[in-house]
Amino acid sequence: MNKKTVKDIDVAGKKVLVRVDFNVPLNDKKEITDETRIVAALPTIEYLLGQNAKIILCSHLGRPKGEFNPEFSLAPVAKRLGKLMGRKVTFASDVIGESAKAAVDAVKEGEIVLLENVRFHKEETENDPKFAKKLAAYADIFVNDAFGAAHRAHASTTGVANYIPAVAGLLIGKELDFLGGALDNPQRPFIAILGGAKVSDKIGVIENLINKVDAIILGGGMAYTFLKAKGIEVGKSLVDEERVGLAAGLLKKAEAKNVDIFLPVDTVIADKFDAEAETQAVPVEDITPDWMGLDIGPSTRMLFTDKIRTAKTIIWNGPMGVFEMAPFAEGTKAIAKAMSESDGTTIIGGGDSAAAVKIFGYAGAMTHISTGGGASLEFLEGKELPGVAALEDK
Ligand code: 3PG
Repeated sequence: MNKKTVKDIDVAGKKVLVRVDFNVPLNDKKEITDETRIVAALPTIEYLLGQNAKIILCSHLGRPKGEFNPEFSLAPVAKRLGKLMGRKVTFASDVIGESAKAAVDAVKEGEIVLLENVRFHKEETENDPKFAKKLAAYADIFVNDAFGAAHRAHASTTGVANYIPAVAGLLIGKELDFLGGALDNPQRPFIAILGGAKVSDKIGVIENLINKVDAIILGGGMAYTFLKAKGIEVGKSLVDEERVGLAAGLLKKAEAKNVDIFLPVDTVIADKFDAEAETQAVPVEDITPDWMGLDIGPSTRMLFTDKIRTAKTIIWNGPMGVFEMAPFAEGTKAIAKAMSESDGTTIIGGGDSAAAVKIFGYAGAMTHISTGGGASLEFLEGKELPGVAALEDK
């Protein structure tokens, strides 16, 4: 990475504002159901503690639309962070109000303050310079470690970098090393597995990856648009009619670049979108007109997992079927298992596929699971992430 990290500057004893992505899922009782993003921020926080820095953490949680809303409070996160670290975390009940100011004034070397949700101010997402300046005034140095929010140009991700020296945290460094390393310097064969419901989400990724990978495996709801582009009738399966032509164009582009595209050869069809639906595995050419494909079929599982076995670098983004419903989970499970058994570098590009490998128990076997959903997709599209671009060059 060509950006300075927290290890490239002197942070000893300094006040450091750290933007983290503590946008974690909460249940109805406001309990954290997945602490991955909090755990992922610990190396930077521990490093700063080791340097006796005065740590001021800030983050967003959810999309509270610029006003205080207790549903989106970071209070449960402060508690969990304190538990994980075995030390006190002072929680400020506002961002630029009296509570925050008092906490920031009082913070001592080796202590941690967490500010309330920055999105309780509309100025955050508007990247308002005055708001950014107020945040920056809390500290001597800004560390951005919020990889999951690095595709957002907000006050706390880019704005503050205009006022104080700004460097990357260790999580951003790690994410860029793995994702960037795979894209720029992969061991080959290099394959990408793309799934999920929407073709529109993955067009940019396919266009960029066609120039980098040896093969692309396409599954999930988006695959039916590609099957349709090949003239296959897919019944009531999800099809983005407006993008059938574009899908055909991408298939041609891949062929011209000698990149193999593997599509499902069979599919699990259902008579309705329901875990209790009647199901059947059929070749893709035999999809019953009134039924819909909701997962890849057994022959496709074999085809795809064989390809995974021969690859040295594999990036996966997007499930192969509706894995939240047991009858349509086998395809996604098979990909997760095959990746877990691979000797190559295995990278999960965040979002639903990250959730799937965790649910199926294969998370520990992956080389890297990105903490960014949208951010890792934009990175795979080849876009510059504003939260990274704003940081100081090495
Ligand atoms: C995410 O969950 O992908 C990040 O925290 C970004 O959240 P956002 O899409 O609300 O900006």
